[in-house]
Amino acid sequence: MKALAVLLLFVGPLHAGDLIEHVRSHPDGKAAFTFEAGAWSDAEATRHLPIGVFDSGIGGLTVLEALLTLDVFHNDTLQPGADGVPDFAQERFIYFGDQANMPYGNYSAVNRTDYLRELIVKDAIFLLGRRAWPVQGETPLYTKPPVKAIVIACNTATAYGLEDIRKALAAWKLPVIVVGVVEAGARGVLESNTTGGIGVLATVGTCASGVYPRTITQTLGLAGKSVPVIAQQGSPTLAGAIEGDAAFPDSVAAYALKEARALAEAYRDSKPQAPLQTIVLGCTHYPLAKSEIDTAFDSLRKEAAFSQMIAEQRLFVNPAEATARELFRELARSKLRLKPGETCALDRGQFYLSVPRVEEVGIQLTADGSLDKDYKYSRSPGQMDFEDTKNIPLTPDLLPANSLKLVRERLPAVWQSLTR
Ligand code: DGL
Repeated sequence: MKALAVLLLFVGPLHAGDLIEHVRSHPDGKAAFTFEAGAWSDAEATRHLPIGVFDSGIGGLTVLEALLTLDVFHNDTLQPGADGVPDFAQERFIYFGDQANMPYGNYSAVNRTDYLRELIVKDAIFLLGRRAWPVQGETPLYTKPPVKAIVIACNTATAYGLEDIRKALAAWKLPVIVVGVVEAGARGVLESNTTGGIGVLATVGTCASGVYPRTITQTLGLAGKSVPVIAQQGSPTLAGAIEGDAAFPDSVAAYALKEARALAEAYRDSKPQAPLQTIVLGCTHYPLAKSEIDTAFDSLRKEAAFSQMIAEQRLFVNPAEATARELFRELARSKLRLKPGETCALDRGQFYLSVPRVEEVGIQLTADGSLDKDYKYSRSPGQMDFEDTKNIPLTPDLLPANSLKLVRERLPAVWQSLTR
């Protein structure tokens, strides 16, 4: 019993430990959920590897857009300030969206966070490895390059998986850095110099984990700032509505108003001294609905119950931008950044999406390409040699029409990279 307690303390929950061992026992990286152990043995070659970005689906493309367009540093001197050259101009990105297993934000509500945690570590393993499936074909290929850094573009995945991934990277002794949206978002709150209260809008899972209040409190505390009231509101619908999912027939504005009202009520119940001023857009999709969310708070201010409770001007924290800045600093700090004039081993970005292995597993699909809901939430961790989904190159025709429209109209840098 004591030995088990010590083991749990050391490797965390056993399923993360299982994956650590599974990878160790397949050093050639040919098996499912493994990668080639020696891929980072040459430090100079490592620096020229691409950067991996993953999310539960396509929402994380908002983070990729921020990565592709960030220009807040001088590329030569690394000093703050735009220089007209995107800060990651030399780098290339590999994006992975676990569309078949999404939404990650709803696993906690059905008590499947242990399975979700395994999925998240498997996402990181995919980015570290060379193994990916072709669109057509019976066997995986080994042509995808490994990565030198992992950006967890998903708030829910950061909430439930960042520590597991850090633990696993340390256990495998890899020189790979990992950046999650939540720590970066908390830093964004600090940099917003808010004088009012803080509201977090996120998925149900992210809110249930308490990760934002905890991380914001730590970040403000470490900077010597007092911590104002932090309220949060988890939505099971807003992300789907923003994606245009037919299951959510009302307008984005209507869902945004519902969530803004619930957040304002939660804030009021905490008996704050100052009005709610800073809103953290704690879900990948929410930056795309910033104006609807802001309008919702404007209309709530017209109600007597909230007129003094909500600041006239809100400050929005978009963790995507904060994450891009954090990645720049981390790459520079760990000497993994490509300098002006240098080139990545990959000449253009790559995109992958998970899809159900329908024929092999005999499962039903939903309209957005994800697994059937009953099947999805019935699974348990510990499956190392069975793949019910496969990660294939993402081409525009694989995206539902609404998602495609969203990317084309709202994420131009991503669209250009995807359709080059
Ligand atoms: N990407 C998720 C997040 O940022 C939202 C979508 C989902 O629940 O999978 O939390």
